[in-house]
Amino acid sequence: MYKILKKKILNPTVTLMEIDAPFVAKKAEPGQFIILRVDKDGERIPLTVADFDREKGIVTIIFQVVGATTEKLNHLNEGDSICDFVGPLGVPSHVEGLKKVAVVGGGVGCAIAYPIAKKLHQLGANVHSIVGFRNKDLVILEDEFKVASDAFFMMTDDGSYGKKGLVTDALRELLENGEQYDEVIAIGPLVMMKFVCKLTKEYNIKTIVSMNPIMIDGTGMCGCCRLTVGGKVKFACVDGPDFDGHEVDFDESIERAKMYQPFERKAHEEVCNLFKKEVH
Ligand SMILES: Cc1cc2nc3c(=O)[nH]c(=O)nc-3n(C[C@H](O)[C@H](O)[C@H](O)COP(=O)(O)OP(=O)(O)OC[C@H]3O[C@@H](n4cnc5c(N)ncnc54)[C@H](O)[C@@H]3O)c2cc1C
Ligand code: FES
Repeated sequence: MYKILKKKILNPTVTLMEIDAPFVAKKAEPGQFIILRVDKDGERIPLTVADFDREKGIVTIIFQVVGATTEKLNHLNEGDSICDFVGPLGVPSHVEGLKKVAVVGGGVGCAIAYPIAKKLHQLGANVHSIVGFRNKDLVILEDEFKVASDAFFMMTDDGSYGKKGLVTDALRELLENGEQYDEVIAIGPLVMMKFVCKLTKEYNIKTIVSMNPIMIDGTGMCGCCRLTVGGKVKFACVDGPDFDGHEVDFDESIERAKMYQPFERKAHEEVCNLFKKEVH
């Protein structure tokens, strides 16, 4: 069992938890993820290692409540325990040797982008961070990003905080003003990553995306997490989750992500009924 040492509500739908998981903390690197099971009847879900403290043996996860399992997880409190916490999984992000990078995060994708920005900053790279949220209430990790960035750009869809517009608007402005990056790293909803890639292709800038397909084992045994990259089938859990965004077939991944939607909705309703909460 893996004890929840700290729980912090970051915004109405996003929660941070620090988990006592020394074996994961010992080896985790930015870009990697864990698979957890809340209880013995639970499904396995992947969540990124948002931070880690090797000495204290702590792993931080940040998750958005979107369905049954994240709802159940969000009902646990400090002192409670999670049944399984497997990792670190996936290939760490390649950050060595990069001199100037734009890190683009959308919504809860910022929880995945932040450790990468932090590592790049620690390695001495010039980091420009562009983060986007639907509105002010959903903003997370602003202070953390500022510390890890040489330049920071906040965007909201409705203009309630930072600048009004999408992350692609901010990135386009920077590129049009002559900024040059060794690489753009984009993490967020599939549609956002697709459009960042479309933009950076115009400027011929290598773009890495972190893919988030449905996963089961997370160790390469089932192919549930498959996607097409450069015309070849890849398994995100062992070949990724980072891929060259210009090579990814986003439309296929967007279709595959919808596969279990009716079932997911029903499972979420059941869990919400259990906790007597309204489903929006
Ligand atoms: C490698 C990896 C790392 C991830 N890291 C994080 C993280 O750090 N924080 C975080 O909040 N989420 C992360 N996710 C997504 C997370 O796994 C899902 O949100 C979670 O599995 C949803 O479970 P659920 O039962 O609560 O919702 P479900 O009932 O499974 O789904 C509810 C809704 O969320 C959508 N959804 C389900 N799975 C995903 C997914 N993999 N990606 C995007 N949307 C999904 C569904 O289409 C549906 O609309 C990651 C996914 C992967 C593959
Ligand atoms: S989740 Fe089964 S192979 Fe990736």
